[in-house]
Amino acid sequence: MFYNPLDGKPERMQIGARVLDLAQWIEVDADYAADLAEKRRLLREAPTQVLACLPQGLAGSREVLALLESHLPRYFPALTPSVESAGETLHPIAKAALKVQEDLCVMSLAQGEWVLTAAAVCFPNRWDLTSKIGRSLMGIHQPVPHYAEKIGAATDSLFHKLSAERPLWRLNWSIVDTPALHQPVPVPVPDALRLVNEHLADNLWFRRERQTLRKLPQSGDILFTIRTYVHSLAETVRRVPDFRAQIAASMTGLDAAMVDYKGWVGIREALERWAQA
Ligand code: HEM
Repeated sequence: MFYNPLDGKPERMQIGARVLDLAQWIEVDADYAADLAEKRRLLREAPTQVLACLPQGLAGSREVLALLESHLPRYFPALTPSVESAGETLHPIAKAALKVQEDLCVMSLAQGEWVLTAAAVCFPNRWDLTSKIGRSLMGIHQPVPHYAEKIGAATDSLFHKLSAERPLWRLNWSIVDTPALHQPVPVPVPDALRLVNEHLADNLWFRRERQTLRKLPQSGDILFTIRTYVHSLAETVRRVPDFRAQIAASMTGLDAAMVDYKGWVGIREALERWAQA
């Protein structure tokens, strides 16, 4: 599956949530073993960076683990998720994260707000998990220009109304200068000089997040999953022949604050030239 959130129109911030068929909750592909090996390495070597848990998130985390333990054998009978070593005492959200390529975030309702209470995020797109734990949806998205005025209230309300019977999914996208999934630090894409035009398509990557939202019936928490897909722009054009036109149209919808947030200040012109060539 090659997800393409672009639609040939100027980019506009929107929730864009669709109803999720639970059979499609989790996705498994040829990178499964490699992605899980990387997750296991990160959880061992950088646990404080990729795992963050508050006591309030424990019940939801246990529920997520149990849901995966029944979902995976049913939909992926041939899958052999990694087995814990004897005596390994991992938090249930870490155990759950070691069964799937997705990153996992548990949100709990606290004083009327949805707050991040447990997360195993090995493949963040340039954000720092430790700064997000315990924060509300509005607080988590504080660095995102226009989030609060454009979709903040609607996202809060979507969370309040979410039901176990009607899970949702949506897509996010970005352009980044590395195919590496683990990007824990908010850095701009700086290296415009390296991107002399003809090499640009091999040096920039179209990074998409397929995100799902699922209300957990027992704990009342909400599970947010993030599955990251990365392809070079060259590969993307092979898969989506209209991609150049789509990205050119999309970029006309982004103001300076958003270009800055996305980290594209150094590459915007080169990217536009490439898109319009
Ligand atoms: C329907 C639900 C949600 C919507 C509509 C939404 C929307 C967005 C948008 C538009 C961005 C900016 C992305 C970009 O242009 O590059 C963003 C970033 C982000 N979102 Fe969400 N989001 C949702 C749920 C969540 C949840 C539940 C979490 C929990 C961890 C989360 C964590 C983040 C983080 C960490 C960032 C990056 C913020 C930063 O740069 O510091 N989002 N989100």
